[in-house]
Amino acid sequence: MISVILGMQFGDEGKGKITDYISKVYDDVVRFNGGGNAGHTVVINDKKYKFHLIPSGALQSKTVILGNGMVLDLEELLTEIDVLKVANKNINIKISANAHIVSKMHKFLDKQEESIRSNLNIGTTSMGIGPTYEDKYARTGIRVIDLSDIEILRQKIGTIYKMKKELLKDSIYNDENERENLAKDLYSLGEKINCYIDYTETLINAEYKTGKNILFEGAQGGMLDIDFGIYPFVTSSNTIAGALSSGSGFSFRKVDKVIGVFKAYQSKVGSGPFPTEIIDDDSLRKYGSEYGTTTGRPRRVGWLDIPLLKYTSMLNDVDSLAITKVDILGKMDKIKVGLKYLIDGKEIDYFPKKLKDFEKIRVEYKEIPGWGDMDEEKIIDQGYSALPKNMKDYLKLIEDEIGKNIEIISLGEDRKRTITKEIFN
Ligand code: IMP
Repeated sequence: MISVILGMQFGDEGKGKITDYISKVYDDVVRFNGGGNAGHTVVINDKKYKFHLIPSGALQSKTVILGNGMVLDLEELLTEIDVLKVANKNINIKISANAHIVSKMHKFLDKQEESIRSNLNIGTTSMGIGPTYEDKYARTGIRVIDLSDIEILRQKIGTIYKMKKELLKDSIYNDENERENLAKDLYSLGEKINCYIDYTETLINAEYKTGKNILFEGAQGGMLDIDFGIYPFVTSSNTIAGALSSGSGFSFRKVDKVIGVFKAYQSKVGSGPFPTEIIDDDSLRKYGSEYGTTTGRPRRVGWLDIPLLKYTSMLNDVDSLAITKVDILGKMDKIKVGLKYLIDGKEIDYFPKKLKDFEKIRVEYKEIPGWGDMDEEKIIDQGYSALPKNMKDYLKLIEDEIGKNIEIISLGEDRKRTITKEIFN
């Protein structure tokens, strides 16, 4: 079985929890995009694991692969590897020789670029993601394979510095000695990850040939995709299913199943349009502890947005849906679902691209009653049949609108608070 799991909203859909839940059947878990901007929390037996680079499925798989589409902060990576090795003792860790390196200079550049953007400020995670992908596509980037060659490191750092001199003029990297220190630091960090470096595109394809089950784990969500998200309020990589091929070297033709994860409501960190945002009430943020795993920033929250989900379902060609935080939404007395986008009173049949269109959008909502507290133990024991009627109606409404089945329902952080389709039947 070859599957890909993705977020369908603005990231933070709770993919980590779902991935961990399904990952026991997969031998290999592969991450193919993004870097330390992602943040996922997995709770197992009351113990919380927080990762940014290591995919959540790594806690249960045999092999974890960080693909070439990723951008890696080596210090963060080494810290996470230490945690992973304790949590999953026999894990085999492989890092693509082609993945790109986020250095401290990139993090500085991230902040500088944000300050220049002024009103089109994205609200990035300041993890150096954008500048690292810029260098990748400018063909000046530092790859994992470059770490073992101090001369190449010096040369690349020198080139990046020259190209971005204006942005770096207030940084320590104006000093040649600091650039030399950066090269040496990267070199010595490289020595520490050397044992994990592999030509992972060949490895993944070989694993496939021997019949291994592989899970590709997307980071962020469809609405942050560099091409299809609400540009420019996006991340710097492709976050949709197709990105697994360019980000890992494995053909999309071999994928059996695409699982789209979405939260029962929505959240977003950073700036940009958010049609179903709730402005005047922060109870959902509090109930759902909606604060960024990576930045700690309060997330913006809003109601479920059906037009947006239909769009990301199409982009990813989703086979099945997984919904998270249904328990949290139920705490609201009244629940709204954004059903349609209207501009000048007329429903639009496209997902807008102009930022000005988003200002004109009026969302048509359907209101439904909440489901309050649930008998969680009964639900864990009996599954779908024990769900409150109002919740079942909510789930059915979503399935009808999106035209896909919800196969996994998550009712809480812990692995055991998850109901799957098998239990429904
Ligand atoms: P960057 O990826 O750090 O450049 O940030 C670009 C935008 O994507 C910002 O609005 C971030 O808040 C958002 N973003 C990036 N990664 C994540 C994520 O994993 N979850 C939620 N938002 C994210």
